[in-house]
Amino acid sequence: MLQSAVRVPDHGKRIPFRFVRISGDARLALGGLLETRTRERDPHAGEAILQKERIRFSFAPLIVTVIAKQGPDEKIPASERYATASCVCFALLQAAQAAGFGAQWLTGWAAYDPVIRTHLDVAEDEAIVGFIHIGTPVMEAPERDRPDPASLLSDWAPR
Ligand SMILES: Cc1cc2nc3c(=O)[nH]c(=O)nc-3n(C[C@H](O)[C@H](O)[C@H](O)COP(=O)(O)O)c2cc1C
Repeated sequence: MLQSAVRVPDHGKRIPFRFVRISGDARLALGGLLETRTRERDPHAGEAILQKERIRFSFAPLIVTVIAKQGPDEKIPASERYATASCVCFALLQAAQAAGFGAQWLTGWAAYDPVIRTHLDVAEDEAIVGFIHIGTPVMEAPERDRPDPASLLSDWAPR
């Protein structure tokens, strides 16, 4: 799956991404950190909220964190390098789903919280693009409305 995920368009061959695997006992350990951090952010958080954070990373057996490397680059804009890392997330989703797994791309507050980022060893010039949760599907994912591509398409013509 990772071999598929790294086959992405990459302007300047910067390889502007890396992976961090969260699996096994690490999932609940991270949940514990989320719970502690939630208490810090909101001392009035109720048990239901704390429980939600505790198990947030325990639904799937495997979570692959996709991290974009940002920082200065004399030629390739950070947005293009972030786009590459986003493609990695999507390619990983598709590889997992093609292999028969369920997979979902999630972020949530934890992806942007400075304390949780530090726990995950995310550097100042890096960004968490997504947590890709991968496991055996237990139900059919509900379909949602998709946009009509025709309504999004226009033809450019010279003025
Ligand atoms: C960058 C990014 C972050 C996302 N984070 C979340 C999230 O934290 N929670 C959530 O319910 N969906 C999140 N989603 C949406 C889901 O990945 C997914 O698109 C949605 O649940 C619908 O599933 P479907 O596209 O397979 O129908 C995120 C999507 C992207 C692109």
